[in-house]
Amino acid sequence: MAFPERYGPLAVVTGASSGIGVGFAEELAARGLNLLLVARRGERLEQLAARLRSECQVAVDVLVADLADAAGIEALAQAMAGRDCGLLVSNAGFGLKGPHEANDPAVMAELLQLNCQAPMQLCHRLIPALRARGRGGIIITSSVEGLIGVPYSAVYAASKAFTNSLAEGLWGELSPAGIDVLALCPGSTDTEAHDKQGIDRSTLEGMMSPREVAAEALDHLTQGPIHVAGEQNRAMFDGLLAMPRRDALLALADNIRKALL
Ligand SMILES: NC(=O)c1ccc[n+]([C@@H]2O[C@H](COP(=O)([O-])OP(=O)(O)OC[C@H]3O[C@@H](n4cnc5c(N)ncnc54)[C@H](OP(=O)(O)O)[C@@H]3O)[C@@H](O)[C@H]2O)c1
Repeated sequence: MAFPERYGPLAVVTGASSGIGVGFAEELAARGLNLLLVARRGERLEQLAARLRSECQVAVDVLVADLADAAGIEALAQAMAGRDCGLLVSNAGFGLKGPHEANDPAVMAELLQLNCQAPMQLCHRLIPALRARGRGGIIITSSVEGLIGVPYSAVYAASKAFTNSLAEGLWGELSPAGIDVLALCPGSTDTEAHDKQGIDRSTLEGMMSPREVAAEALDHLTQGPIHVAGEQNRAMFDGLLAMPRRDALLALADNIRKALL
């Protein structure tokens, strides 16, 4: 089945105002899907929507919603209801670095709301419609950090372990019904996420572009439940996961401590 038939006519992309979400919106519009773009910064969403309408001749709507808030999740669920949405890209998320005891409890709670609650509840709301269609897909942007506990990024890594496990479970439930589920695990990607965590992007090596990451996810959507983006990331994490876990964690702690603290 062609991509638009299988996953269209409408795809929802959360976190579409920057980074990997923009990459998803560009790739999906280029593949002929109409879009509903979601984030808090409405002006950026409107600019992207106008560009994609003109470049790709697709219909693009925007929804300004805070998905760390139950009301924002409900607003998006209502916006999806009754529309023939074949693909959910639950991509909005943020990271938090530093010693666990130094992190702000309110920010940690917000992180869990956005990185875990939002994808869980949005999947819950969309699955009945996907089952009724008998085709479609769900992508959750996770992270390579979900593959192993990560010192000095403990809460973020745990949130992404949650999304990896969620995607695996849903893949088992939904793939027999013709619905693809994929947890996308990017490694370092060239987005604002680093700036927001006080990391100088010029010090990072081997970053992928957001569009490259999004394209890989869409190209591997039928090969879920987990996809690590980029050959270099796959090789690095294969090596790390082959090590005794305690050695891997101490090596990670050493490297990250030197880079961060
Ligand atoms: N960059 C990396 O190296 C990397 C690596 C692995 C995984 N990831 C994951 O990739 C995903 C996208 O991140 P990115 O790197 O593209 O970062 P980004 O450029 O900072 O984009 C994050 C997106 O999430 C949206 N967002 C943040 N808080 C939100 C909220 N409360 N409600 C609704 N939307 C919200 C932001 O829009 P507004 O601020 O306008 O709301 C933005 O569109 C995240 O899940 C992240 O964990 C990134």
